[in-house]
Amino acid sequence: MNIQWFPGHMAKTRKMISENLKLVDVVIELADARIPSSSRNPEINKIVGNKQKLLVLNKADMADPAISEKWRSYYNRIGEKNIFVDSISGTNLNLVKKTLKEMMQPVFERDLSKGRVFRPIRIMVVGIPNVGKSTFINKLSGRAIAQTGDRPGVTRSKQWVRISGDIELLDTPGVLWPKFDDDATALNLAFTGAIKDEIMDMEELALKFIEIIINSYAEPFKERYKLSDNIEEKTPLEILDECALKRGCLIKGGEIDYSRIAVILLDEFRGCKIGKVTLESPMENKNEEV
Ligand code: G4P
Repeated sequence: MNIQWFPGHMAKTRKMISENLKLVDVVIELADARIPSSSRNPEINKIVGNKQKLLVLNKADMADPAISEKWRSYYNRIGEKNIFVDSISGTNLNLVKKTLKEMMQPVFERDLSKGRVFRPIRIMVVGIPNVGKSTFINKLSGRAIAQTGDRPGVTRSKQWVRISGDIELLDTPGVLWPKFDDDATALNLAFTGAIKDEIMDMEELALKFIEIIINSYAEPFKERYKLSDNIEEKTPLEILDECALKRGCLIKGGEIDYSRIAVILLDEFRGCKIGKVTLESPMENKNEEV
């Protein structure tokens, strides 16, 4: 998570992933189902080139199922293979394995017709920090093998881990840099914890979060913080004040403890306490047209 992405790091990561790509049949690109667009690396298609790619939307257990459905239809329409998973419980990981086999079927049939012997499907996982790469790899393989490198482009010695009779996985995921191109993306990454809190102004972040949550998830938010009914007419700062008062976040003299309430709000969102929330829909994003 403590990654500073400098151009040199990006070049090194690109090179390392390109080297590993030569060894694999399919690349699994992991994204966060709560921010399907913001959590993707902007150069992923360039990096992966003509290798087969499977987009896996992780943390689907925390995402809004109705919006996940919209993303699924969108990806299907543009022909992007996609699966929504939960790497904690393992939901849909068998579907990932099945899909990998289906994707490789034509290749294996061709190999067979040329008299080549059976070989396992080799895959690697790539994604931005905190998207759940290690959790996904460990759950898929049924072992604790993956640790995310804490520096860009970090490689330990490469190891193939057999995850079923006919699939092998590179144990070290490719850690990609996130998009930095616009404020909305940066905010989404910060809300979900992909950008470290230490470098954020948490109060500012909480105010932005309120703006977005009131727009799409006013009811569960109101309910969680027992807010007044006319909350939509209030400014984000007034709403933050009300949340703070409800939670008793006050400092000496009865003033509001903004840093405390800001952390509470974001922690509760990340812990799914406000409910299943997705922060971007395909039609809202300028990169995705419906
Ligand atoms: P990374 O290798 O891509 O950097 O991510 P990692 O596996 O370390 O996962 C980051 C956090 O996301 C972990 O939480 C992990 O438990 C959580 N996570 C991963 N996959 C899922 C999923 O499918 N569903 C849910 N609900 N959570 C998932 P953490 O240990 O609390 O770390 P942090 O959030 O405090 O950094």
